[in-house]
Amino acid sequence: MCGIIGITSNKPVSSAIINSLKKLEYRGYDSAGIATLTKGFINEIKSEGRVDNLEKSLINIKMEGTIGIGHVRWATHGIPNTVNAHPHSSETVSVVHNGIIENSTLLKKHLINKGHKFKSQTDTEVIVHLITEYLKKDSLKDSIIKMLKQLHGSFALGIIFKDQPDLIVGARRGSPLAVGYGSNENYLGSDSYSLKSMTNKISYLNDGEFCVVKKNQVEFFDENGTRVNKKVLELSSKEIEEQPITLKNCIKEYIDNINNEINIYNFPWKINEISSVTLIGCGTAYNSCLIAKYWFEALTSLDVTTDVASEFRYRKNRFKKNNLYIFVSQSGETADTYAALDLCNKNDMKTACIVNVIESSIARDSNFVLPIHCGPEIGVASTKAFLGQMLVLYILILKLSFLRKDLDKNSYIQKTKNLKELPKLVEKTLLTESQIQSISKTFADAKGSMFLGRGFSYPIALEGALKLKELSYTHAEGYPAGEMKHGPLALIEDGMPVIVLAPKDLYHKKIISNMQEVIARGAKVLLITNKSTDEVISENIWEKIEVEKASDDLLPFLLTIPLQKLAYYTALEKGYDIDKPRNLAKSVTVE
Ligand code: AGP
Repeated sequence: MCGIIGITSNKPVSSAIINSLKKLEYRGYDSAGIATLTKGFINEIKSEGRVDNLEKSLINIKMEGTIGIGHVRWATHGIPNTVNAHPHSSETVSVVHNGIIENSTLLKKHLINKGHKFKSQTDTEVIVHLITEYLKKDSLKDSIIKMLKQLHGSFALGIIFKDQPDLIVGARRGSPLAVGYGSNENYLGSDSYSLKSMTNKISYLNDGEFCVVKKNQVEFFDENGTRVNKKVLELSSKEIEEQPITLKNCIKEYIDNINNEINIYNFPWKINEISSVTLIGCGTAYNSCLIAKYWFEALTSLDVTTDVASEFRYRKNRFKKNNLYIFVSQSGETADTYAALDLCNKNDMKTACIVNVIESSIARDSNFVLPIHCGPEIGVASTKAFLGQMLVLYILILKLSFLRKDLDKNSYIQKTKNLKELPKLVEKTLLTESQIQSISKTFADAKGSMFLGRGFSYPIALEGALKLKELSYTHAEGYPAGEMKHGPLALIEDGMPVIVLAPKDLYHKKIISNMQEVIARGAKVLLITNKSTDEVISENIWEKIEVEKASDDLLPFLLTIPLQKLAYYTALEKGYDIDKPRNLAKSVTVE
């Protein structure tokens, strides 16, 4: 798997191409290369190994071209060296390619008979000579169409032409290819990841399509040259990327930086007036209640229950004076959660809420409000608010546990200190993105999927399944892994993608054996664990993602990140609207 990039602009493109190649390096680092059109000539620079080497070799070379292509290589045909590195160029054409041309040997023989001289051992170079050959007689478009028809195998191509200094041709069959839209510049790239530092507007090419990218216009064609219209998708994983900042802002609000003290001001009750807690919410907010239940039980001696608001409001509840009812809601307007609060208020209960919108109805009608400080959340699928809800719940639990002397001073200070490292750990964990993007393709084709967790990871499995459902419309279930044998195991069939959350915590060994149970039934397991020194038993797994090392309490935050991204990229792969998934609303104000 290689990575390709192309940029046409009104300003020099070489440094932007190098930056994108660095993002694409997860696709291959046997060699890297760039070609730009400078003063009517193709200027090609290639180097072995990492993009850094290429960058070094460019230091003394002024590449002024405002149009160019770039490539990172994972060698399939021809040894990894500079000659076989891409781009491959003739005097008039330069090509970067991701994929394999299966009939390259045959085409090469034919072209050599026509007098073409080959420099490399690659399959890709036949494309250079094939198009050069056609351009002798045919128009650019006809040459492209004829060339594509000759090629067998898979490809994503980026091509620049000496005689067409204002355009890049892209073509796709099998390997992914996207176009990005900028102002006075446009881009071509193997995936949105390589483009999103330059734009949040992209279109994907389908198999058999090609495109002509100019700095102010992009045209798409099918294999016969008929124009096709393309949907422009808006990349908006902004809220997922924002999480290190929103967590940092929230921690600043609650944790005194000097003495690592948690400041929860004007808590209206004496600590001994509360002997039990009920956490209530809907959807993602309910999942944060569930993870809090595990933290409450691990860190305090309080009795704790959780409830889905739409059930709580109609049940015959036993209201207890010393129970604290905590309502979790991003919008603070969710009808079921508000009605549950109203019911508690009517029974004169202690009510607190954890909200993002502090002027909301739930905030206004609760006795005590804990804001999550993560800024407006636009995307219907809740992401940064989920981590914000978890964070404030954890901070509240640490404080209550210390005040109740369930936690000694040293552990309290240490856990508060650990918390301040969380934004950095989330930032590092976001770097697993590129691996997830390639994994998401399998989920895009999947009929259904399962998310398995135990202990702290079980609520995160529920949240991961919810995100995949609401963003990619793929049927997905989160399950306590120990429950599989009691029925759901029957759902497992060959190739079914199953996510197993197996951090190195006290449940690790148990969940690894549950993982082997689903593998034995043909499941394709994506194992998500955390970095650590001890080896993970990962026989027969399909893929493994490692999040950063962290204390057991904080691992749920990190395990959530790859699941958010998986849902995001699966939806993108399927071409769905990320911010406004079908049939849903950001705040459900009806019951
Ligand atoms: C989450 O992605 C969904 N948008 C939905 O489940 C949401 O969490 C639920 O509707 C609760 O919303 P709230 O947090 O605003 O109360």
